[in-house]
Amino acid sequence: MARLLQMYVALSALSFNFVTACQDGFVVLNLTTNGSKGRFGVIQHFTVPRTRRYKIKAWGARGGTHSSNYGYRPGIYYGGKGAFQEGIFTLTEGTVLNIVVGHRGGDSVEVKGGRYTSKTAAELGLSVEDNAGTGGGGGSFVYTSSNVLLLTAGGGGGASAGYNGVDGQAGTSGTGSVGIDSSKSRSGGTGGLPGQCNKAGASYHGGVGAGWVSQGCARAASPQGETGGSRDQGWVGGRAGGMNSGNNGGPPPGAVGGFGGGGGGSEDNGASGGGGGYSGGGSGTHQNQAGGGGGSYCNGSSCSGASGGNSNDDGMVQIFALPG
Ligand SMILES: *[C@@H]1O[C@H](CO)[C@@H](O)[C@H](O)[C@H]1NC(C)=O
Ligand SMILES: *[C@@H]1O[C@H](CO)[C@@H](O)[C@H](O)[C@H]1NC(C)=O
Ligand SMILES: *[C@@H]1O[C@H](CO)[C@@H](O)[C@H](O)[C@H]1NC(C)=O
Repeated sequence: MARLLQMYVALSALSFNFVTACQDGFVVLNLTTNGSKGRFGVIQHFTVPRTRRYKIKAWGARGGTHSSNYGYRPGIYYGGKGAFQEGIFTLTEGTVLNIVVGHRGGDSVEVKGGRYTSKTAAELGLSVEDNAGTGGGGGSFVYTSSNVLLLTAGGGGGASAGYNGVDGQAGTSGTGSVGIDSSKSRSGGTGGLPGQCNKAGASYHGGVGAGWVSQGCARAASPQGETGGSRDQGWVGGRAGGMNSGNNGGPPPGAVGGFGGGGGGSEDNGASGGGGGYSGGGSGTHQNQAGGGGGSYCNGSSCSGASGGNSNDDGMVQIFALPG
């Protein structure tokens, strides 16, 4: 009881959501996005209170939704779901963990016809532009202050007209984008790398998802979706293409990549962003290309995961103290 109380006091001082009992041991940390949305988020810190075994669970975030009522296959298309990944780790007292909880990718907001306006498509009585992209979801990451990666759950790719985004993957590799024309698809990353470099100028590419090692190459220009940020960039999500950014169309921030390395969605006639993750999801080069899902990683024992294993929009990270 005394130990529990001590832990409670230590944790509540850090204003963590503390829960006392659960089937996986007891929860010492339950981190959500706490209402935060969009490209920017906060890397949270957790100091291991006592040397012991912990189970860590992570869920990546979902990609953005696309909805338009005209053009190719009108309707609503959903971003890929984030992956789930868990493992058991022996952590030493005093070790500081950095924790990134992925944000959902932004929806397409550009107004039909691509006009510049501060009003939303709905306020104007118009559809969202049929060929605007959406943002990729952010991955969730747990790593030590000396950058030893413990766990990652990949984010899902953003949806495009006619295609749902690809789910965040249980395996380490990101997937390619998917869409109407496979020659316009680009690959996901492997081995901790971002999605395939994409600077296609002919039509508009989306931003690729970041990987653990690095972010993707810079976008060709501002109408294109921007690559998501990796660790060195503080995991900031990629910007949306100009007219799909919310500054010129619907509600800001528009089709941005989610915090956690999600790639941004392009403006019209462009592709959606890839999810962030251990390896980033790919993004295509034209419209009707939904983003690829990010990969996952587990550096512990008893690792398991599920592609698309997050049924919620945003990411989450939980740490349980195991008995013994
Ligand atoms: C969650 O958000 C509320 C309201 O902004 C804030 O007071 C609280 O400290 C936040 N909690 C965490 C764990 O960040
Ligand atoms: C963690 O927090 C979420 C959101 O507040 C809540 O729905 C969930 O029940 C909590 N889970 C545990 C194990 O504490
Ligand atoms: C996984 O853990 C091992 C042992 O601590 C460490 O050497 C390795 O760098 C970690 N992997 C990553 C990707 O950080």
